[in-house]
Amino acid sequence: IQHIGVFTSGGDAPGMNACIRAVVRTSIFHNLRVSGIMRGYEGMINGEIESLGVKSVANIIQRGGTVLKTARSDEFITPEGRKKAYEQLKKAGIDALVAIGGDGTFTGADIFQSEFDIPVIGIPGTIDNDLYGTDFTIGYDTAINTVIDAVDKVRDTAESHDRLFFVEVMGRDSGLIALRSGIGVGAEAILLPEVDTDLEQMYERLEKGRKDKSSKIIIVAEGDNEGGAFPIAQKVKERFPHYDTKVAVLGHIQRGGKPTCADRVLASRLGFAAVEALMDGKRGVMAGVMNHEVVFTPFERAIKHISELDPAWVRMVGILST
Ligand code: F6P
Repeated sequence: IQHIGVFTSGGDAPGMNACIRAVVRTSIFHNLRVSGIMRGYEGMINGEIESLGVKSVANIIQRGGTVLKTARSDEFITPEGRKKAYEQLKKAGIDALVAIGGDGTFTGADIFQSEFDIPVIGIPGTIDNDLYGTDFTIGYDTAINTVIDAVDKVRDTAESHDRLFFVEVMGRDSGLIALRSGIGVGAEAILLPEVDTDLEQMYERLEKGRKDKSSKIIIVAEGDNEGGAFPIAQKVKERFPHYDTKVAVLGHIQRGGKPTCADRVLASRLGFAAVEALMDGKRGVMAGVMNHEVVFTPFERAIKHISELDPAWVRMVGILST
């Protein structure tokens, strides 16, 4: 390979910039050309491609978001769209790709690299942590730390007013942000898309627990089975009209901010590893870190949603939250 194209796609995640920097610097070290493709697959189709150098990635390791911007592309789902993208890459002389994103990004990358002779290595960049083949995705650590910072503040005011707060966190299909941050803030309950909420059991526990602690924090993943924090808060209010209930939806603040050290280091390792993997002839795989080691997982395995939560964790949450 001679010329790598790097892009970010899907929802942005803190640490993506650190990853772009590592891809660029490792490529240059190995005398490869490297270009940034703007706005993910959209920019690939439209030929929005810029040559990158050591300087173009200076001073970005600490910045959230992605300097290459990102998008979700409907056109890339079509064979015509992918053909246009391939022609643009050919025109720019790009012969290998590093795709930073989540399951949608890798689904597209997998089809693309099977249709055209362009090797692609994926790097997991999503706050959801919902990919197989890496212990953590880039952005997850920052996002859960943003959540615990915000919920600690909510807890202060909840405690002062003896209130029951429903805090909605991101995770359309995955409860991993809710689970880990919920443990971190000592939530009284955590509602997840992967687990059917037993409302009666929750009501019982809320009533019982009221004697010991007047404030309560319930973490609700946006994709939980009740439809998020507002509907569940409404149901609880109907059951216990005397409770002083409030809802806080954390929203997109979870996607921004300075990446934590853990995310910067993970992003740097994976960016570096992806370039060297392309040079070694690897393709169609996602680079990840499992048990401290860099490992490569075929796209079709990586995008298999982790829909089962570890029962030991679920049991522990039940015990600690009482
Ligand atoms: O992929 C991360 C994620 O934050 C999900 O948890 C969330 O449901 C989704 O992206 C929202 O994405 P957007 O704001 O781009 O529609």
